[in-house]
Amino acid sequence: MNRDTTALFDLTGRTALVTGASSGIGAAIATALDGAGARVLRAGRDRARLGPDGISADLAHGAAGVIAQADARADAVDILVNCAGSNPRPPLGDIDDVLYREILAVNLDAPFQLGQHYGPRMAARGWGRIINVASTQAHRAFGNSGAYGVAKAGIAGLTRSQSEAWAPSGVTANSLTPGLVATPMTTAVLADPERAEYFRRRAHTATLGAPSDFAAAAVFLAGPGSAFVTGQNLCVDGGLSVT
Ligand SMILES: NC(=O)c1ccc[n+]([C@@H]2O[C@H](COP(=O)([O-])OP(=O)(O)OC[C@H]3O[C@@H](n4cnc5c(N)ncnc54)[C@H](OP(=O)(O)O)[C@@H]3O)[C@@H](O)[C@H]2O)c1
Repeated sequence: MNRDTTALFDLTGRTALVTGASSGIGAAIATALDGAGARVLRAGRDRARLGPDGISADLAHGAAGVIAQADARADAVDILVNCAGSNPRPPLGDIDDVLYREILAVNLDAPFQLGQHYGPRMAARGWGRIINVASTQAHRAFGNSGAYGVAKAGIAGLTRSQSEAWAPSGVTANSLTPGLVATPMTTAVLADPERAEYFRRRAHTATLGAPSDFAAAAVFLAGPGSAFVTGQNLCVDGGLSVT
């Protein structure tokens, strides 16, 4: 690759904050951004899987803990990746107010709060990237969408609003929508061989996704080359959303 092309994806000198970095898709995105030259602040709950400089906080209690720890480690965050998510999958009728609030807190409130903190700061510096991880369940039910689908539909709206607010100041906001990806979140779904086969067959690729499938998409959306791509949703799903 020549130098001009390499520069489109070069994150040298940038700092990224990745939530959900202790596992699955978030861990793969954190590794990819690191590989592209960014300093990566990894957030999750499980300190052991985050490494020595990890940020451990429970987003069910709000994003203030992540923000305080990230700001103590870095002067600025240039790239925000909201990848933490939880999907307990009870049928909608079994979701009470407490569980509803918890699911919304992790999947939608935290991306909102982190965006409210970092978006204006990125805009003031004239450069930033926000990447929100959505879900096909924002638009289409499978496996008890419940409050999780509500939150992920909110992510679609949040992404557009963030783009509208800060893109004039050099900050793009986009979402990534995974298909069915083998991670701890989907272990229960994939434990049923018929269900796993159903999702495999429905994807155009006839495969499930792997966390590593998100590496290139994340580097693209985080990099200088995607400056004119904003308010968009990129499906990394093997074609699942168009079957
Ligand atoms: N896998 C799929 O098929 C699929 C499909 C559509 C969308 N997604 C989305 O992709 C994203 C990543 O999911 P994944 O499949 O990679 O799942 P995963 O392997 O289970 O990872 C989930 C991550 O979210 C973090 N997290 C969960 N609850 C949290 C909380 N209360 N506070 C702080 N962090 C919390 C976890 O941290 P700890 O483990 O440290 O607690 C972990 O790092 C999620 O937003 C998910 O909704 C996944």
